Amino acid sequence: LSKIEIKLGDIPEGKNMTFKWRGKPLFVRHRTEKEISTETAVNISELRDPQHDKDRVINPKWVIVLGVCTHLGCVPIANAGDFGGYYCPCHGSHYDASGRIRKGPAPLNLEVPYYEFPDDDTVIVG
Ligand code: FES
Repeated sequence: LSKIEIKLGDIPEGKNMTFKWRGKPLFVRHRTEKEISTETAVNISELRDPQHDKDRVINPKWVIVLGVCTHLGCVPIANAGDFGGYYCPCHGSHYDASGRIRKGPAPLNLEVPYYEFPDDDTVIVG
């Protein structure tokens, strides 16, 4: 199937869950208020792939990205690394809680797929 429907109520605040979508890992992260305020405040001129947090999310509580490291495609680990978002153990890429690359060899932020929220408890990706 090209679309996946996910119930957001199953994902507690502070957790990242991994789903499989179009043969790839898909991360759905329920951010804390602290993560939201940290990522919103980042000065994008310091970023390798400059993107505002608000341009990567629809609802700031939810980060939805492909779980595919933009270096060579490994699956990063959630809630790890120097920026608390994701850490790719293959060659040491650190992503923040917006999925933006902050340190290590990966060239680009984690990819944001097309998605929509048909209601408060549901996201449809694809
Ligand atoms: Fe992730 Fe190389 S594949 S750092």
